[in-house]
Amino acid sequence: MSFDTIIRGGTVVTAADTFACDVGIRDGKITALGRDLGDAATIIDATDRLVLPGGIDSHVHFAQPSGDGIVMADGFASGTRSAAFGGNTTVLPFCLQEKGQTLREALKHYHSLADGECHVDVAFHLIVTDPTEHVLGQELPALVEDGYTSLKVFMTYEGLALSDRELLETMSVARETGAMLMVHAENFDAIRFLTDRLERAGNTAPRFHATSRPIPVEREATHRAISLSELVDVPIMIVHVSNREAMDEIRRAQQRGLRVMGETCPQYLMLTENDLDQLNMEGAKYVCSPPPRDVASQQACWEGLQQKVFSVFSSDHCPFRYDDPQGKLAPKGRTSFRWVPNGIPGVATRLPILFSEGVVKGRIDLNSFVAFSATNHAKIYGLYPRKGTIAVGSDADIALWDPKRKVTIRHQLIHDGSDYTPYEGLEVTGWPVLTMVRGKVVVDDGTLVGSKDHGTYLPRAKPPAGATIP
Ligand code: URP
Ligand code: ZN
Ligand code: ZN
Repeated sequence: MSFDTIIRGGTVVTAADTFACDVGIRDGKITALGRDLGDAATIIDATDRLVLPGGIDSHVHFAQPSGDGIVMADGFASGTRSAAFGGNTTVLPFCLQEKGQTLREALKHYHSLADGECHVDVAFHLIVTDPTEHVLGQELPALVEDGYTSLKVFMTYEGLALSDRELLETMSVARETGAMLMVHAENFDAIRFLTDRLERAGNTAPRFHATSRPIPVEREATHRAISLSELVDVPIMIVHVSNREAMDEIRRAQQRGLRVMGETCPQYLMLTENDLDQLNMEGAKYVCSPPPRDVASQQACWEGLQQKVFSVFSSDHCPFRYDDPQGKLAPKGRTSFRWVPNGIPGVATRLPILFSEGVVKGRIDLNSFVAFSATNHAKIYGLYPRKGTIAVGSDADIALWDPKRKVTIRHQLIHDGSDYTPYEGLEVTGWPVLTMVRGKVVVDDGTLVGSKDHGTYLPRAKPPAGATIP
């Protein structure tokens, strides 16, 4: 057999195994794993490198409408470029249905933004904000069959939050169609009440964002989302879990046999609410929802990964520029934390942070790293085994890691459209030195060598019925 490329001399790691082996690649697929594979047009020397499945980030936001006068810092070109620099080969951004819009209209627009603009492969989740009879009865079932097999619903945010009745109706359609349902669990009315009260008292600095969304706001909504999903008997994914109390709700549900999964993100392992407490508006750089909590919450999120209460580790990359009236500084006159767009960048730093803080510091093993960063995303969102593993027949989506390289994170390494990283100055050990998407190298030792027409859109299968991952 002949190959286009052989990756030679590395250590292959999957979610299950670690083994010394060469990887033969042909026509974008892995076609052989073994030794002495012969010759190929291209030989990549992987001596002292780990050969991992490319990262799959199942929670990113690109080009999402973000409210009056606010512009997200990444579209598909810069967002997928940054993803590739961070060792990712597939990302799943959200296609947001605006009120009054059909899902098909939203998708047509979103596809037009993505076409020819992707450095890595993409698939879309749908955000349902207007669950009309037409949307739930006609559009969603057809779209799930067409390969849009996951959707996100919100329990907070003006214009996005669904009522409990709407949540139940949407959950019922997810159950009937077999789609995976992601839930943003925070109590909208409680946040509005606390925000109004803080503003009346003159507490408007960015740090009060955290005060306006305390842990009970997230715990209550997590409990409610689980209870509603139990009524309908539908699997759900609680996204961006930030603390022990919300995690314990998920754990209890799992112990009761409910198909409830959880996701956490780097900001809940690395940041605290103190990061929001800075001079002037600097704290706005760390405003995201749920907000970062405290050191005990960070510890809880690590335990959630170690004990596999969480199945996935995603970035929730939601980038806004800091020094920009269309970004974190918000248009003139809007001085309260209420107007700071929620979300922080992180698609390029997700994997180095989990590798360094998790694997190198002995909190999780390498196989779990692969599961949390790639394999479980592929399984849960209908991309496995094409994506998320290193196996004969899978796409040759591979990241070569130098497990010993020490890097100080600087914004210039990130290559996104934002003007800062929340992790500026953080020292990490372990770095993705080469990213390959379907057999083509897209980033090689800090240099972009791919083009933005290489990434492709991926229709997806339904998640495996009746299963929770892992
Ligand atoms: O603050 C955040 N997380 N913004 C992104 C939107 C979301 O809720 O995921
Ligand atoms: Zn969310
Ligand atoms: Zn998000």
